[in-house]
Amino acid sequence: MLIKTSAAHEPLSSEITPRRVYLNRRTALAGLGLAATSPLALSQAAPGGGKLPKLPGAHSAVPGALVMDKVTSYADATSYNNFYEFGTDKSDPAAHAHTLKPRPWTVSIEGECAKPGRYDLDALLKLSAMEERVYRLRCVEGWSMVIPWVGYSLGELLKQAQPTSKAKYVEFTTLADKAQMPGVRSGVLDWPYVEGLRIDEAMHPLALLAFGMYGEVLPNQNGAPLRLVVPWKYGFKSAKSIVKIRFVEKEPVSSWTKAAQQEYGFYSNVNPNVAHPRWSQASERRIGEDGLFAKKRPTLMFNGYEAQVGQLYAGMDLKRNY
Ligand code: MTE
Repeated sequence: MLIKTSAAHEPLSSEITPRRVYLNRRTALAGLGLAATSPLALSQAAPGGGKLPKLPGAHSAVPGALVMDKVTSYADATSYNNFYEFGTDKSDPAAHAHTLKPRPWTVSIEGECAKPGRYDLDALLKLSAMEERVYRLRCVEGWSMVIPWVGYSLGELLKQAQPTSKAKYVEFTTLADKAQMPGVRSGVLDWPYVEGLRIDEAMHPLALLAFGMYGEVLPNQNGAPLRLVVPWKYGFKSAKSIVKIRFVEKEPVSSWTKAAQQEYGFYSNVNPNVAHPRWSQASERRIGEDGLFAKKRPTLMFNGYEAQVGQLYAGMDLKRNY
């Protein structure tokens, strides 16, 4: 994202859906009696790869959690990734992330809270009911996807730790292990990858702790075994392969802000009115849906989640707090 810009505009071979596949999909949906825009239809239209353990989730009742856009194909969502611990090309994570060991895995919760602790992955999987949420994810580079995630609201975990009144922000640290992650040997970012949210953002029901996608556990390249998905912010706020969550009093400095402060602010809310120095944020290319010469679609304020999250930023100057 910081150094490779051309790849973001190259078409994917999978962007061109063969006519036969397209027609079969239409026929299958019609047979099920599903409107092409219902969330169930979206899930049916985009099954997982079928190679990973199943992780089903009930359709979420959180307002805004099930967008009606057509779901990105599993093949595209798992082969066009940013995960710099495995390299900076979009194809690197799929090629190299097999060395990541998502089990055993623990997440430590620290800082300004009454109940810090270490959670084993199995305990985290049982902590709350799994929900399926179909979210748009918009990357600052100008592309977007629509993915059916499986997980539960991050707030469900955070409230277990009982944050104190000093907990104004939450800092997320992800795994940085040279033995498992070849990209960590490079100096492209200041490892480990760190991201942060204001506490009210982290507690917002749409902020998702994801363990799966497309009804299966997360593939390594998408941030196994657990990651954040903050759908109203640019993709880089959605930290992958989290190992530490810390409640802090001061605004955390993320790895991207450290790398280029003028480009990556703390808030990083999707905002078509505030351009990034290198990429306009006014429109976007939907991966897998549009060919190279197809019209881009306009980017929506807060990525289309304004009704749900706009209030978090009432009175703030969003040009200054980019
Ligand atoms: N998390 C870690 N640990 N390392 C990364 O390089 N890249 C971010 C984010 N989370 C990144 C990360 C960026 S730039 C984006 S756009 C999203 O992951 C991409 O998520 P996806 O590959 O599942 O679409």
